[in-house]
Amino acid sequence: MSREKVTPYHFLKLKKEGRKIVMVTAYEYVHAKLADEAGVDGVLVGDSLGMVIMGYRSTLPVSFREVAHHLKAVLSASPRALVVADMPFLTYEVSREEAVRNAGRYIKMGADAVKIEGGAEVVDRVEAMVKAGIPVMGHVGLNPQRYLVLGMRVRGKTAEDGLKLYEDSKALEEAGVFSIVIEFTTAEVATEVTRSLRVPTICIGAGPYCDGQILVFHDLVGLNVNPPPFVKKYADGYEVFRSALRSYVEEVRSGVFPDEKHYFKMVPEELRKLLESVSKRRTTASEKAP
Ligand code: KIV
Repeated sequence: MSREKVTPYHFLKLKKEGRKIVMVTAYEYVHAKLADEAGVDGVLVGDSLGMVIMGYRSTLPVSFREVAHHLKAVLSASPRALVVADMPFLTYEVSREEAVRNAGRYIKMGADAVKIEGGAEVVDRVEAMVKAGIPVMGHVGLNPQRYLVLGMRVRGKTAEDGLKLYEDSKALEEAGVFSIVIEFTTAEVATEVTRSLRVPTICIGAGPYCDGQILVFHDLVGLNVNPPPFVKKYADGYEVFRSALRSYVEEVRSGVFPDEKHYFKMVPEELRKLLESVSKRRTTASEKAP
């Protein structure tokens, strides 16, 4: 495996060569290290952290600073994988200036790219960011930041909705994105979009005929007890951790932990001196007591 840092250019190259792109979300140092060691091409510091890390009901409350905090942790691992910072709700919607300034702050921290949700309606923001030298990943299909208006439903079930997604994706490509996430969308629509674009599509719940796949870390390792229906769980992380914690609780209560392997002893001579000193202090203290 090449150890060269992954760039947005590599994503385009992987599509050209017909090689699948693999991404996963990561929110902290260990996640990024594990993902990198597994050989992923990209990690997304997703605003899904709102749900899986913070326990929020949606991604809407996630702030610029929360993503920045987790981005910092991920960057500490110096991943070879491309690091994409997700722009939270209301950090790019209001104006092109705000979008460029906020995206630029993540790039200054060390992110390799940013991701924003939306289609034709965010094209001017994408253009402005790309003009400023910021690589942008698009995100169409289910847009969780717009669920109050669009709902949390599978996209692309009708020809009309499929065409809308196709046009949104084409508009994003023209605006300069280097790849597009397609979320919770019928496989046929994702396939058509993938075939029509020069830039790679990275799918989540949108079938196998995309240029790549992305999953949320907690979903794939089984730490999310309520994952979306399109998730494949590769481990039962929740059970593994729960059982480890239960064993710890039992062993502390029963005196099994810590055992001799997990603590340290003084040499006898030092212990004798310590006991002597403590005993002297006790005697002095009791003499001084009224
Ligand atoms: O925030 C996130 O994790 C995402 C992925 C679902 C693509 O946007």
